[in-house]
Amino acid sequence: MRLGVCYYPEHWDEAIWAEDAARMAAAGLSLVRIGEFAWGRIEPAPGQFDWGWLDRAVESLHRAGLKIIMGTPSATPPKWLVDRMPDMVALDAEGRPRGFGSRRHYCFSHAGYRAEAVRIASAMATRYGHHPAVEGWQVDNEYGCHDTVQSFSPAAREAFRTWLAARHGSIVALNQAWGNVFWSMEYRAFAEVELPNLTVTETNPAHWLDFRRFSSDQVVAFHRAQAEVLRAASPGRTILHNAMGFFAEYDHHALGAEVDVLGWDSYPLGFLDSFRFTPEDKLAYARAGHPDIAAFHHDLYRGCTADGRWAVLEQQPGPVNWAAHNPAPLPGMVRLWTLEAMAHGAEFTAYFRWRQFPRAQEQNHAGLLRPDHAPAPALAEVVQAAEEIAALGPAGASPRRVALVFDYPAEWVTTIQPQGKGLSALWAAFDCYTALRRLGLDVDIVAPGAGLAGYALCVVPCLPVVPEALMAELAQFAGEVVVGPRSGSRDADFAIPEGLAPGPLRDLLGLTVARVESLPPGLEHPAADGRWAIARWYEEVEGEARPELTSADGRVAVWRHQRRRYLATWPTPALAGAVLERAARDAGLATTPLPEGVRLRRAGNRTFAFNYAAEPRELPASLAGRVVLGERRLPPAGLCVLEHDDA
Ligand code: GAL
Repeated sequence: MRLGVCYYPEHWDEAIWAEDAARMAAAGLSLVRIGEFAWGRIEPAPGQFDWGWLDRAVESLHRAGLKIIMGTPSATPPKWLVDRMPDMVALDAEGRPRGFGSRRHYCFSHAGYRAEAVRIASAMATRYGHHPAVEGWQVDNEYGCHDTVQSFSPAAREAFRTWLAARHGSIVALNQAWGNVFWSMEYRAFAEVELPNLTVTETNPAHWLDFRRFSSDQVVAFHRAQAEVLRAASPGRTILHNAMGFFAEYDHHALGAEVDVLGWDSYPLGFLDSFRFTPEDKLAYARAGHPDIAAFHHDLYRGCTADGRWAVLEQQPGPVNWAAHNPAPLPGMVRLWTLEAMAHGAEFTAYFRWRQFPRAQEQNHAGLLRPDHAPAPALAEVVQAAEEIAALGPAGASPRRVALVFDYPAEWVTTIQPQGKGLSALWAAFDCYTALRRLGLDVDIVAPGAGLAGYALCVVPCLPVVPEALMAELAQFAGEVVVGPRSGSRDADFAIPEGLAPGPLRDLLGLTVARVESLPPGLEHPAADGRWAIARWYEEVEGEARPELTSADGRVAVWRHQRRRYLATWPTPALAGAVLERAARDAGLATTPLPEGVRLRRAGNRTFAFNYAAEPRELPASLAGRVVLGERRLPPAGLCVLEHDDA
């Protein structure tokens, strides 16, 4: 795994570029991402290009032996462009234009803006596409950041109508598919269909689901338009994009098919503070991040490209600026996050950013250097990580053990109609992932249809619409299967399937869901031993499957049918732990229950162990191997690498 950094030469006096490049190389960095917000400096006025500064910046990095990933700047259209084409901005769900003065103020569906984005990408590719230092192109920056996947603009409405006509064929078919007979919602023509915002009460969920599919498709089409000109003008270079954390607004499997390497931006402390973690976890892991945040996304995005190529395009190096609270990482965490990315198979990790910029929105965001050019604490950790990575040599692949199936439309269905507040397919996947990793297991997060060959255990945490590709895979799969609640509960048009849930999975699971209910906080049905409880969601089930885990008051939490289990309740961490432990045992997988905060990852003939706890932790005695880095007693933010002869 190589190390890199995100760099903005346009922020700094040209006189220090050469020294910056030399310092990067001396720190063990070999890759630099530049350019993704620089449109205004590249083309300060319509059609007037100023390439001189960027030519010199590229040369100074090249002279230091650094490779470059160049960003296309379509996330930051300059003021003159917005003024010339005012209707290119997105409208938010309230119908308000998204103003100039930050970034991402464009609508994915605006044809004029898309052409402008292609024009600037093409100009950059023509200029730098054959440069020996330029090895890749990042298209745009973080599609959807700041809630920008959906736009409620006239351009989006027009494009949506065209998209609907292609999907449904006739307006009669659309009315039928959406159930528009309900509340007199029928249309006479596609031209009558509005966007799903601004209705009095909730909009038809089928309308929303199609709009979310459409919005996702628009992101991918926007990307493809730039990727095509980049591939043509800059042959042999990798095409990348940087995805985000806990973000499912567009289909990353679809985007993954359009890139060579899917990057993602890893900010474990910002994500811990911003997302649905318990107050206890937020405190316990405030300076480390929850131990599954980074790994979950590594494993998720690895599964989004056909050949599993992924990278960390931005790595948190210190306090960030954008969460509600922005603590500093524990000493050692930047090194730990870096080696954990290596253990999960990243091609590179790039830190965001080289130097903290003392002005504008991100002036409180740490870099590897302070604004006064002195090293920030992370720089020494980067140097250490670079040396350790070089000494370890390439990380081998992890053997196939557990496949966890996740699909983006699942998240759309559960968030469009949660039925119980906060119940989401993404978080069901995360909680199952956590439960598996607490058992010391390695997990691949896979798309339906990606193939289950070689896995011993397949976990489907929550998949309301079951794609046919997965049905075919499950029918052939010889390993253990665990299916979570709501799976198969909707058809592709957001209707309850004929014959009820779990729809196409009924025969495989040997059951039918007769009734569902969601449970408010505190309304729980605990197991007799108190280890888990039926909470948040419950399904009454009929059929030949037999009860396996039952609450003290006789409700069935888990059903068993042949080699398959069905969770009739929400996979809370405790319940997921109990059922996945049984499933792993039945699948013949050796588990290693881990101390709180410790996680493992096997790579080739090595096991990496990471301590996210704020206290020292001892590796379980059952975990054999020769220590080649660190020690078995892991300090906070510590790691240990064990080597085995057998793998
Ligand atoms: C990312 C973004 C970067 C920068 C960073 C700050 O979301 O891609 O441009 O804003 O966050 O943490």
